[in-house]
Amino acid sequence: MTTATVRVPRAEDMRELGLRLAGALRAGDLLVLTGDLGAGKTTLTQGIAEGLKVRGPITSPTFVIARVHPPLAGGPPLVHVDAYRLNGFAELDDLDLDAEIGESVTVVEWGEGLAEGLAEDRLEIVISRDADAEERLVTITGVGARWAPVLSDLLDAS
Ligand SMILES: Nc1ncnc2c1ncn2[C@@H]1O[C@H](COP(=O)(O)OP(=O)(O)O)[C@@H](O)[C@H]1O
Ligand SMILES: [Mg+2]
Repeated sequence: MTTATVRVPRAEDMRELGLRLAGALRAGDLLVLTGDLGAGKTTLTQGIAEGLKVRGPITSPTFVIARVHPPLAGGPPLVHVDAYRLNGFAELDDLDLDAEIGESVTVVEWGEGLAEGLAEDRLEIVISRDADAEERLVTITGVGARWAPVLSDLLDAS
């Protein structure tokens, strides 16, 4: 397991982090995002989407639980899941993401405790902040051998 912690002063920097992260992502990758409402999970996903060059917009879905954003430039599609309203792994499993996951980059907001069952290798991203502060602290943990080089590249570049 490899962990990196990144300080993110502004929303724009969160998008930039997503953009950089996207450079290392490929089909089959799973990212599990954790953090309170307003932490910046969707903002990070917007940066990832920009980096992957998929069709937007990336929003916090109100009624839609999973959205597939098709590639505009030949990369993998982005599957964006908001698991907030899901009750347990069975409901996540019911979305039948398995087929998609192998061919896409999958980002699950509110997925902690649920999305781990979708893939053995995954990137766990926890966003935290102090009340009223703009700055966020992003802790990125790679589970599985796939992620060690990705995280060291990310840290070298920051
Ligand atoms: N450092 C920061 N990182 C990310 N978002 C920030 C930051 N500072 C302010 N924001 C704002 O906080 C909000 C985060 O919202 P969002 O990404 O939808 O959160 P979540 O998906 O975690 O509920 C946005 O309005 C964004 O502009
Ligand atoms: Mg959100």
